[in-house]
Amino acid sequence: SHDGEVDESSKHDQLDEVRENPEGEELTSDHGVKISDTDNSLKAGERGPTIMEDFHFREKMTQFDHESIPERVVHARGTGAHGYFQPYEDPDLGDEYDDIEEVTKAKVLTNSDQKTPVFVRFSTVVGSRGSSDTVRDVRGFATKFYTEEGNWDLVGNNMPPFFIQDAMEFPDLVHAIKPEPDDGIPQASAAHDTFWDFASLKPEITHMIMWVLSGRALPRAYRMMQGFGVHTFRLVNDDGESVFVKFHWTPKLGTHQLVWDETTKLWGKSSDFNRKGLYDVIEEGYDPEWELGVQIFDEEQAEAFDFDVLDPTKIVPETEVPVRPIGKMVLNETPDNFFAEVEQVAFHPGNVVPGIDFSNDPLLQGRLFSYQDTQLNRFGSANWDEIPINRPIAERHNNQRAGFMRQEINEGKVSYKPNSIGDDDPQEVPAEEGGYEHYAEKIDGKKIRNRSDSFEDHFTQARLFWNSMSEPEKQNIVDAAHFELGKVDRMEIRERMVYDLFNNVDHEFAKRVAEGIGVEPPESPGDELPDHDREDPSLSMENRT
Ligand code: HEM
Repeated sequence: SHDGEVDESSKHDQLDEVRENPEGEELTSDHGVKISDTDNSLKAGERGPTIMEDFHFREKMTQFDHESIPERVVHARGTGAHGYFQPYEDPDLGDEYDDIEEVTKAKVLTNSDQKTPVFVRFSTVVGSRGSSDTVRDVRGFATKFYTEEGNWDLVGNNMPPFFIQDAMEFPDLVHAIKPEPDDGIPQASAAHDTFWDFASLKPEITHMIMWVLSGRALPRAYRMMQGFGVHTFRLVNDDGESVFVKFHWTPKLGTHQLVWDETTKLWGKSSDFNRKGLYDVIEEGYDPEWELGVQIFDEEQAEAFDFDVLDPTKIVPETEVPVRPIGKMVLNETPDNFFAEVEQVAFHPGNVVPGIDFSNDPLLQGRLFSYQDTQLNRFGSANWDEIPINRPIAERHNNQRAGFMRQEINEGKVSYKPNSIGDDDPQEVPAEEGGYEHYAEKIDGKKIRNRSDSFEDHFTQARLFWNSMSEPEKQNIVDAAHFELGKVDRMEIRERMVYDLFNNVDHEFAKRVAEGIGVEPPESPGDELPDHDREDPSLSMENRT
């Protein structure tokens, strides 16, 4: 149906209203007063001190002094672009489902007449805002869909598993991977003791480590990178029925990587290699494209897998559930102002629209708190949703009020409910008329702090990944392990990586890694850690790259 069609330009029109183009205009103060001289401060006498009265100096300097805002606590370095998403007409969902409406009522995914405006931000995870692009790291792939039913944020990464299983572990992971707190080294990569110390003591990280040591961590270009929602989400149809879903972005240009020697040369020449790449191709009119694919499965299928679909360190193998393409995304416009758009965009996995819902993945559940919380710190106010890049194109109407930097002028006497005097009182929308309704999942259990037994297998999928690699790809992984672990000072960390993690993935792999980093190769799968005096300093400095 053409009902409620959203033109991709709708977000641009909205942004146009706040765009300022200073070309050819006269210089004014922030208060609109024309300014005659912006190079010289007002002085008491020819060579005298500057005078407090100089309102132009005070304003110019104050604005400058307050230009910086906190960088994101993770994913600080990134870049972004505008574009649109459009569902395919009648996508093939296999034998189980006739059409997309059978699994979701989200119009952004079902209405093929509709182009939904999007803003995408790609990022590295570890480095600070000014760090380099071509480091060994996971890449963020976050998409904000400005749908007619409100904003939907698909806040994904370029690798399908994750490091940890429970959000409770996230601060530890990030403290381990960020620059070491005493010396601030290294600024933007995984190569250091604290990260590998944490990894070697956290077997659940093994699957993700295999991806991080692979070429996936060195994308050739953002437009040649896959994206994954990582968690299992839910889709919900008009009848309130739900299936599970994994989201996949597939680049039209294919998935390509750099090799390590290229990355180090590139980052010596330019720290902006991936940022510039995206900007330049869009400016030149080669608009990058991705296909959105879904893996759809129901509770019964989920129960039959030999892993838990709520465990974010696991993927759903495509041999079990194929990826079905349901639409495409095109990025066709660069930002006008990096700060206003790329820096101020605020994604949140909790921004969902009717037809899309959460699973009980304990990592996802924790993210639902973290993003809003961190954005209070980053923006200093709850009103970041009024910033142009974050504003929905869907109408907003509620009793939320005031706060720092409030921009809306809410009319009327009434900002409470129930009331009898407001004629513009926000009314709740019944679920059947499009109001968001959380999927009524049956939950029955004891309140416990635990890790489900179904989250226990940390090695099967890591092995699956290793076995799926060609020999050159395997060699890349081994070389990466040599480089990374060769930079680790403490021998016991290198040993734990080999014996406690890699030897459980694949014995040959563990031996190949051991041989390059001065660790005694394990003799058989399942070998215990070698027992020796770990105080020996000659061991710990051996074989450093
Ligand atoms: C950014 C927390 C896991 C993808 C962030 C930020 C925080 C955060 C605090 C900064 C947000 C901001 O300042 O606007 C967490 C926590 C996690 C978690 C607590 C686990 C418990 C994940 C996972 C993914 C992911 C599993 C991928 C599926 C991203 C992306 C960004 C981001 C792409 C950057 C968004 C942007 O470009 O602005 N995360 N994260 N995170 N996170 Fe996570």
